[in-house]
Amino acid sequence: MNCLSPSILAADFGRLAEEVQTVDEAGAQYIHIDVMDGMFVPSITVGIPVVRDLRQCTDRILDVHLMVEAPERYVPQFADAGADIITVHAEATTHLDRTISQIKEQGVLAGVALNPATPISALENVLPLVDMVLIMTVNPGFGGQTLIPYTLDKVRELNKMVIRRGLKTDIEVDGGITLANVEEVLAAGANIIVAGNAIYTGDAAANVKAFLEMM
Ligand code: DX5
Ligand code: ZN
Repeated sequence: MNCLSPSILAADFGRLAEEVQTVDEAGAQYIHIDVMDGMFVPSITVGIPVVRDLRQCTDRILDVHLMVEAPERYVPQFADAGADIITVHAEATTHLDRTISQIKEQGVLAGVALNPATPISALENVLPLVDMVLIMTVNPGFGGQTLIPYTLDKVRELNKMVIRRGLKTDIEVDGGITLANVEEVLAAGANIIVAGNAIYTGDAAANVKAFLEMM
């Protein structure tokens, strides 16, 4: 199933609950929460208390994207706060296999994210262990960037690998997705679409509906 995961990074943080409820009511299936630590990526965003409070605002899937060095330090806290999916970067954790197990032990879905420059081969051994792979289609750290075209080749390669191995792994894409390129992104094999600026610029409810019509 194709799902939309609006990224709150592009929302008005002063009205965050309302911004989340708007996309929830418009039909978005996931809510994407970008956690940045100022180390793995330059920006600093939000953390555990925000996940905890948003859990009270929506029943949609809370899709927590940890752009954090050594994310294993925080997995139990994000799970307790109400995350449904916890995604860690392969580049940010030394013992990726252990971190994936740690996420699953918390009873939440486990995702692994790859930066644009990280090859799909980094997933070779862990692919059967994860529920979702997040292919970054921009370099992480900021919203509003332009999709890097070669990252869609990675989505195609991953999709083939998932099918060849008889897996059901979800493929999420994140960064620079718009109404103009979402069809191409879906055709490449992605099934969970993150969009920040393309949702929260203008009428968020109308933008969600426009995306869902194309999915
Ligand atoms: C980037 C974040 C994204 C970001 C996407 O580092 O991981 O989730 O919010 O924003 P847009 O859709 O505006 O590129
Ligand atoms: Zn993200």
